[in-house]
Amino acid sequence: MRKKLIIANWKLNSNKKFISNYVKFLKFHINSFDSQKNIIAIAPPDVYLERVYKKIKNTNILVASQNVDINLEGAFTGETSILMLKDIGIKYVIVGHSERRLFHNEIDSIILKKFHLIKRSNLIPILCIGETKDDKKNTQTKNIIEKQLNSIFQKLGKSAFRNTVIAYEPIWAIGTGVSADPKEVQTIHQFIKSYIYEHDPESKNIIIQYGGSINSLNVKEFIKQPDIDGFLIGSASLKVEEFLKIIKIASSFYSKQQ
Ligand code: PGA
Repeated sequence: MRKKLIIANWKLNSNKKFISNYVKFLKFHINSFDSQKNIIAIAPPDVYLERVYKKIKNTNILVASQNVDINLEGAFTGETSILMLKDIGIKYVIVGHSERRLFHNEIDSIILKKFHLIKRSNLIPILCIGETKDDKKNTQTKNIIEKQLNSIFQKLGKSAFRNTVIAYEPIWAIGTGVSADPKEVQTIHQFIKSYIYEHDPESKNIIIQYGGSINSLNVKEFIKQPDIDGFLIGSASLKVEEFLKIIKIASSFYSKQQ
């Protein structure tokens, strides 16, 4: 069985004290079995990336960035470059999150540029895709996903998704407390995998995470699904005990499969 990729997306939350307590708690409770069976990462706000990185340096926990600019350097006030992320040891970069699409007008062409840049820099993009409530109501989910994937395929070619991660995050499930149905998510993940596989058989092992109101109570049903390879967790990841519970549930599911 494959490792689950479990990421805490703190969004615009945390401070120095929060980070100190959070990391101390995780370091104490995560054991080698947890990190053998899961890939665990934290995505803090940019200003704390290096602080988190330094605190988790000798553990198996990784650091992800929530965003990156499309430019490498120059007169772009307020931005963070991929070169800087690489410089401080970041491994994953989230791209195309619906909150960036919505609040920062990130359209597919910008997301494509960022995705490409992250790949070219040998970091791993986590591409967020997913439908709105209306799309779902109008049974457009698969069409929306195809469109989002095609905007990458069209420019970067068939092998675009090698060494990348996709986070399927139905927009209506993010931060609402209402997660999607695990079996429906399984169907979507299977669809995403076969769509990518049709283009490039070598992308077969792509990791597809689910995100949208995951917590320690509902995660059990998601974890059973064979094509759900991990989770991008917002609200529930802000409580470290809750985040740890999710990790432990993933580890114990794994041990039952042995
Ligand atoms: P949520 O956020 O867990 O609070 O729904 C998930 C995300 O936005 O990545």
